[in-house]
Order: sequence, then C-alpha cells, then structure tokens
Amino acid sequence: MAKKIHVNLNEKSYDIIIKEDILKSLSEEIKKVYKGEKLFIITDDIVARFYLDKVINNLKDGGFSVDYIILPNGEKTKSIESLEPIYNALIDFNMTRKDMIITLGGGVIGDLGGFVASTFLRGVGFIQIPTTLLSQVDSSVGGKVAIDLKKGKNLVGSFHQPKLVLIDTNVLTTLSLRNIKDGLAEVIKYGLIFDKDFFEFLSNLKTKEDILNNIEHIVYTSCNLKRIVVEEDEKDTGERMKLNFGHTLAHGIEAHFNYEKYTHGEAVAIGMYEITKHSEKLGLTSKGVSDKIKDILINFDMEYDIGAINNDSILSHISSDKKNEGKVLNVILLNEIGKCYIHKTNTQFFKDE
Ligand SMILES: NC(=O)c1ccc[n+]([C@@H]2O[C@H](COP(=O)([O-])OP(=O)(O)OC[C@H]3O[C@@H](n4cnc5c(N)ncnc54)[C@H](O)[C@@H]3O)[C@@H](O)[C@H]2O)c1
Repeated sequence: MAKKIHVNLNEKSYDIIIKEDILKSLSEEIKKVYKGEKLFIITDDIVARFYLDKVINNLKDGGFSVDYIILPNGEKTKSIESLEPIYNALIDFNMTRKDMIITLGGGVIGDLGGFVASTFLRGVGFIQIPTTLLSQVDSSVGGKVAIDLKKGKNLVGSFHQPKLVLIDTNVLTTLSLRNIKDGLAEVIKYGLIFDKDFFEFLSNLKTKEDILNNIEHIVYTSCNLKRIVVEEDEKDTGERMKLNFGHTLAHGIEAHFNYEKYTHGEAVAIGMYEITKHSEKLGLTSKGVSDKIKDILINFDMEYDIGAINNDSILSHISSDKKNEGKVLNVILLNEIGKCYIHKTNTQFFKDE
C-alpha cells in the first residue's frame, strides 16, 4: 500500500510517496507533477550498478528523454570539484529551466544534486529518489541542499525544495547493515524528541529483518514527524533546531576521529545517549531516560558511551563549530521520552557537574 505525505509549504508544497517497488511506476508518478520531457539523473556508481538501468528503462518507456551522470560514491563527491562536470553535462543535454533533475542515491547525491538544481540556470526543479535509510527518513525531506568545503561539511548550500520525493523501500535490501543502522539513529531520534509511542514501537524491533518488515511504517512515521517541523520552520531558525538532538556532540565526535571511525549515525547515537546522561545528572531531564536510550542502542548493537562529554578534544571541536551562533550554543535536551526543548547555553555546559 502506498503512503503519501503532503508537505505544505505554499507554492513550494510537494508530496512524498512511500511505496515498495515504486521504481516500477516512476513515469506514472512523475507525470503527475511534471509535464516536460527531459529528465537528467544524478547518481553514484554503487546505486547505478543496482538501479540505474531499471530507472532509465522505466522513464524511457514512459516517453521521457533521459540523460545521466554517474559519480564516485562517498562524501568526497559532495564537493565543488563535482559541480563543473555536472553543469557541463546539463548544458550538453540542453537543459532549460523547464526541465527536471532526478537525484538517485543517498544523502550525498541528494544534497549535491539538489544544490546543482538550486544553482543551475538560477534554479531548476528536481525530484528526489533517496536510496539509503538516512536519505529516506531525513535528508530528502526539507529542502536543505549543500556541498562540503575542505574547511567543513555543508558550508555552502541553500534551501531548495524538491517537486516530489519518491521512496522505494525495497531498495534498502541492498544496503549494508552499517548503513541501515546509520539511518536508524535518526529514526530513533524522531521517537525520542517527538513521539513516545514510536520510540516504544522501535524498542520492540531486534533484527535487520524486523526493521525491513516494518519499513514502510518506520519511513512514513519519520518523514511525517520531520514534515511537521519543516512546515513550521522551513529555514531552520527555531523549531527545526530540535532535529539536532544528539548532533552537537556527534559533530565533535566525527571531527575528533577525522570522520573515519564513526559514521554520522553512529556518532548521533552516542551523542543522544551521552547528552541525555549528562542532562539527567544536571536535573534537566527526567530520571531513567538515558537508560532507555542505552537499552535501544544495545538492542540494535550500537555503541553508546565513549566518554565524549569528558573528552577535551571533542569539546574543542564543538566550540569551533562554525554553526554556533556567536557564543550561544543551542543544545537540544529531552524533558522525557517523546518531548524535547531547546536549551540555550555555552560549551561550559558539557563540563558542568
Ligand atoms: N539535507 C539534509 O537535510 C541532510 C540531513 C542529514 C544528512 N545529510 C547528508 O547526507 C549525507 C549522508 O547520506 P547517506 O548516509 O545516505 O550517505 P551516502 O549517500 O554516501 O550513501 C552511503 C553509501 O550507500 C550507498 N548506497 C546508497 N543507496 C544504496 C542502496 N540502495 N543499496 C546499496 N548501497 C547504496 C552509496 O553508494 C554510499 O556508498 C551527508 O553528506 C550528510 O551531510 C543531509
């Protein structure tokens, strides 16, 4: 059964459609929002190997004229160096502002391709087909697009909402367990900050099979919770900050380990547990909440405690984070499971006893 979420952003509104095997009905879905003929696909080598032929065949059978570019997989591709070859390919394909880009891949391709769409010819439309759990529940929703600089991640970007998001949960079967867990950290986050029932539902899942058997519900609930925040605060100046729960510590952890030891999701999982253990100690979160986070992370065989709060190098990465507003640090804390708030503080917060 297909599930549909309408993201209401006035003239920038769009639908997210979640359906097993939606790759088989792409043309049909795309024709509902796009009356043109040309589609340019941006993807990476791994995703291309699994899914590009299927996508191209479906689009060509639907009467579209299609071209594509295949980029190396991995975060390094989200760079300035990737832009020019993509822009050149779009020019060679005679793309106009009426034509449409498709991003087929994980968050790297979605962020980069969305950034290309927001800048090429001062903005063309794009459709997201996210293929990792993280991109399905997080990066494809909300219109944040970006590339990295050598000096830091996501430093150049914009807000550019897609025209449509098509989520095929079947593609997750080819994803590694580590990548699944990466997305799962964000899924758990949604439960922790907004939805106690969802958190409890997740606490009862154990294996990759359990997750995949319930995947439509998991993706739908996560996207829907993100939709609510994005509708309220599209440009990330207030409520949307709540989605950063666990992320301040996570950025410090990732940077401290040179982005090599922990994936983003693994760092977020540790960040969520450690910040909550700390805020509980300071009396800012109800007692017992951090143990519940610990239990769910143990359940999914994820790390939860590396002593980040007491690690000066990790904390120094947090204070030099370019996203901090002056000296004020917005830390997201839980009141209890399913409820959170923005705590305005500074980096001393992590050292308070
Ligand atoms: N825009 C936002 O709001 C937002 C939110 C969160 C994260 N992000 C960004 O997302 C990026 C991370 O995204 P990601 O975790 O999806 O990483 P990714 O795009 O690098 O994908 C991870 C790996 O999985 C492979 N892959 C993708 N789909 C597959 C499939 N179906 N089967 C097998 N392999 C597959 C990719 O080739 C890649 O090697 C980061 O750059 C991060 O900054 C953006």
